[in-house]
Amino acid sequence: MAEKYYITTPIYYPSGNWHIGHCYTTVICDALARFHKLKGEEVFFLTGTDEHGQKVEKEAKKRGVTPMQFVDPLVSGLKDVWRLLDIRYDRFIRTTDEDHVRCVQKIYEKLYESGDIYKSEYTGHYCTPCEAFWTESQLKDGKCPDCGREVTLQREESYFFRLSKYAPRILKLYEDDPEFLQPKSRVNEMVNNFLKAGLTDLCVSRTTVKWGVPLPFDEKHCSYVWIDALANYISALGYLSDDDALMRKFWPADLHMVGKEIVRFHAIVWPALLMALGLPLPKRVYGHGWLLIGGDKLSKSKQDAVKEELTDPYELVKRYGQDAIRYFLLREIPFGSDGEYTNERLLGRINADLANDLGNLVSRTQAMIEQNFDGKIPPRGEKEGPDEELISLAEGLFERVNADMDALNAPDALADIFAVVDRANKYIDETAPWILAKDPAKKARLGAVLYNLAETVRMCAIVLQPFLPHAAGEILASFSAEGSFGALRFGILQEGTPVVRLKPLFPRIDVKKELAEVAKLVSERRAASEKASHPEPQKAAEITIDDFSKIELRIGEVIACERVEKSDKLLHETVRVGDEVRSVVSGIAQYYTPEEMVGKRVVLVANLKPVKLRGVLSEGMILCAEDENGLSVISPEKLISSGAKVR
Ligand code: MSP
Repeated sequence: MAEKYYITTPIYYPSGNWHIGHCYTTVICDALARFHKLKGEEVFFLTGTDEHGQKVEKEAKKRGVTPMQFVDPLVSGLKDVWRLLDIRYDRFIRTTDEDHVRCVQKIYEKLYESGDIYKSEYTGHYCTPCEAFWTESQLKDGKCPDCGREVTLQREESYFFRLSKYAPRILKLYEDDPEFLQPKSRVNEMVNNFLKAGLTDLCVSRTTVKWGVPLPFDEKHCSYVWIDALANYISALGYLSDDDALMRKFWPADLHMVGKEIVRFHAIVWPALLMALGLPLPKRVYGHGWLLIGGDKLSKSKQDAVKEELTDPYELVKRYGQDAIRYFLLREIPFGSDGEYTNERLLGRINADLANDLGNLVSRTQAMIEQNFDGKIPPRGEKEGPDEELISLAEGLFERVNADMDALNAPDALADIFAVVDRANKYIDETAPWILAKDPAKKARLGAVLYNLAETVRMCAIVLQPFLPHAAGEILASFSAEGSFGALRFGILQEGTPVVRLKPLFPRIDVKKELAEVAKLVSERRAASEKASHPEPQKAAEITIDDFSKIELRIGEVIACERVEKSDKLLHETVRVGDEVRSVVSGIAQYYTPEEMVGKRVVLVANLKPVKLRGVLSEGMILCAEDENGLSVISPEKLISSGAKVR
């Protein structure tokens, strides 16, 4: 029976700005998944998106759309990136998928029944306008880190997971199974930073967030995002569903590949949850390093740094092709450590390794076969001089690459493949086929040299498939060669097989010119995005004071307020304006609750012709100001009596 290999990436938070740093984990996993598939294993490669939580809820509200309307296009954007990079996942899971939601509910239920989840009270610093709890250390100068306003110490009924109970078992796991968490440095981080001090139970429900999975035993609570997110690794396999065939087949996972900042969730919370569920633990969690720009993690919040370099995967793939981007990510960053990203480094790698070393080897070999053997594979001939060394290097390649991939070390695997490519280029210099070609008596030797080169190229292309799927596929097709690992034996190419001469796989890039073009593009994009975030206010036509005096502005006091039925956007206010009471409808329900509006003094356009909105009479308009952060009702700074004229 074929061996099984279950590999996962973390599921991604929806972003409107996917960058090359996001691609790192997934490209590594894709290369590993492809490698194991080529080994004949039955592979399940899972990736997806982590869509619930307060942040999405707030962003959607700010834009006046539902959370689902907000996340849908972002998720499509991520799928586009994976398509461009030819990521071949077996399932793309979304935490909003119905089967996932059901599974999360069943997990909560099971843990609640077994007593690993219990009800208690959460104490935290609460920011009322943001509806968010913050811990002491999250506060900024004692205030809400999001809006800078005062917070109050509040208690909230919450459910907790007995994480503390599992601390000794997790410590023992690290001791008993050194493979579980890698690289080794991450074990020390977990032990020293978290486990040594003991673990506290984890608050796993929120009543203040609505965009999440409702707890089945208490629907006013929503699941904590990290439990929801981690569960994807088993919900995707049908855990606790009617069809759990995949779960039985693929669990436990062979590898959870994650960035180092989320190791603690995967190496502490996740094994504890699995222990509580009575499930076997994943075989390996690997915490890789980051792509840095100017020494900082490449992330969308580091806008200033990001703006100096082109980091947009769509544009990068368009300019240099999917293989070049995959190659850079897989080769440049020492595995397990951080690595600096610059456009110059990327171009350097493309030119040196792909255009020069690999590209030249392929094109020189194919050109010489075309010129001297009518584009057909020459006879193998006798071994001479440096042949043996080249052949044995090529024959041992799979074993070395396999060991590197077992250690998850893609940079080393590529270094091993390119060592053979380099050796083959050196072999060309040593055997000087262009000189052999001048002497008809050396035709057999020329044939043997070109045969050895073609075989070396073919074998390199087979092992390159997981890393450079497009280029490797082209090379193999040009020799009519198959790509299976079973064909990794020297001497498979048959004499007379036609060879198609390929166009350059990686055209050389003029670095100076390209960097100048990229700098121009980046600065144009920066200017455009700055303009979009600070649009110039539209200048209205000039008016006279007489025109202005036609508008009657008065101070009103909101004495009652309710939502307009069947509308997400409208509030119905009852406003006292002097002796009069007016009915007013305003589109501010996404920014203010009815309770917040009552008691407010507002500026009312009092002589606006009355209209009916959703069947409710509106006799005036409340003035508001709006920017990209939200909307604010305009109120007088001092207490001014209702009915007062605004001039
Ligand atoms: N949603 C959580 C994961 C939940 S898994 C149960 C999350 N999402 S994320 O979108 O922030 O990150 C997804 C992956 O992208 C992580 O592995 C993260 O480390 C990776 N990267 C994001 N920026 C990165 C770099 N600059 N460099 C390398 N990888 C980085 O965390």
